[in-house]
Amino acid sequence: MKIAVIPGDGIGPEVVGQAIVVLEAVAQKFGHRFEFQEALLGGAALDVKGVPLPDETMEICLKSDAVLLGAVGGPKWDNLPGHLRPEAGLLGIRKGLNLFANLRPAKVFPQLKSNSTLKEEALGEGIDILVVRELTGDIYFGEKGRAKIPGGEKAWDTAVYTTYEVERVAHLAFRIARGRRRKVTSVDKANVLESSRLWREVVSKVGEQYNDVELNLMYVDNAAMQLIKNPHQFDVILTTNMFGDILSDEAAMLTGSLGMLPSASLGEGRLGLYEPVHGSAPDIAGQDKANPIATILSAAMMLRYSFYLEEEAQAVENAVSKVLDQGYRTSDIATPGAKIVGTKEMGSLIAQN
Ligand code: NAI
Ligand code: MG
Repeated sequence: MKIAVIPGDGIGPEVVGQAIVVLEAVAQKFGHRFEFQEALLGGAALDVKGVPLPDETMEICLKSDAVLLGAVGGPKWDNLPGHLRPEAGLLGIRKGLNLFANLRPAKVFPQLKSNSTLKEEALGEGIDILVVRELTGDIYFGEKGRAKIPGGEKAWDTAVYTTYEVERVAHLAFRIARGRRRKVTSVDKANVLESSRLWREVVSKVGEQYNDVELNLMYVDNAAMQLIKNPHQFDVILTTNMFGDILSDEAAMLTGSLGMLPSASLGEGRLGLYEPVHGSAPDIAGQDKANPIATILSAAMMLRYSFYLEEEAQAVENAVSKVLDQGYRTSDIATPGAKIVGTKEMGSLIAQN
């Protein structure tokens, strides 16, 4: 199994380094062989190659079974023009790999309840939601423009979805729900938007092929409210690009721990891109302070969604849980009485477990 490794900038190399330590422990325990190949992206690529996404990086990714990414960006490259900024490399790689679904789990670990923005009674046994966001269509990619009108200007963006685009992400969400609590909530604004009416029709039709999965349909304004009011009702939330952008951030903040949030972006085949939700955290880079858990949990998602190694994925997730049970914390998730450890020690503890 070939893994392209893109450490990136800031704390990227530190957290990716620990995810590799954990993947190597998995390889040893379960008898797998992972081949790692490093590639440059973002500021690291600008410094060496003068561009944020070198062709060579794209080639390495396309030849791999999965891509593990740290984070890109930092003050050093902030004043470059848009197409040369580190973020341009990130958008380029997501597009180049044809990834149409973004998966963002929001899970409140029982050991970290006190970090959540929710009250104890809303949290209950903890929360475990997976937002599946469509990533290549909708209002972000439809026709847009500006025109002068008397007294000023007008500007427009167009939300567009095709049957095919909705079908492929819906199938993915239903398949994923089968490996979880078998419940999909599809979120749209079908009372107002024509693209949402098509979304709703197609998702309902696809849902008929998965009668072992419960399907609920919800308007986005209600979903934003229900996430705060009664987050336990959700398992998989399937939604459009724009609504997913907003709801995935909202769901993530229910956990209150940026350093714990993984993500996956998937396409047609097995090739996926796995990265923590957080950025390159230049304020703590190079100090062995960064929490590597978001990246380690991203590696667990890689085992699950690109390599179909469910047992191994769970072994990693359980190891994270055990280390939290043992009272170890990086400083960003410190709870009263915790044993504070650095990036490297956290990685080794999870690998041992
Ligand atoms: P950030 O996520 O890098 O940091 C926000 C705050 O959270 C900082 O105080 C940081 O120290 C802390 N933090 C983040 N990850 C942490 C971790 N693993 N452990 C402990 N503390 C952690 O977001 P910010 O500050 O807005 O952006 C910094 C740089 O990262 C910018 O150049 C930005 O463009 C880039 N960025 C890159 C992303 C990516 O590569 N996907 C995503 C978001 C930002
Ligand atoms: Mg966003």
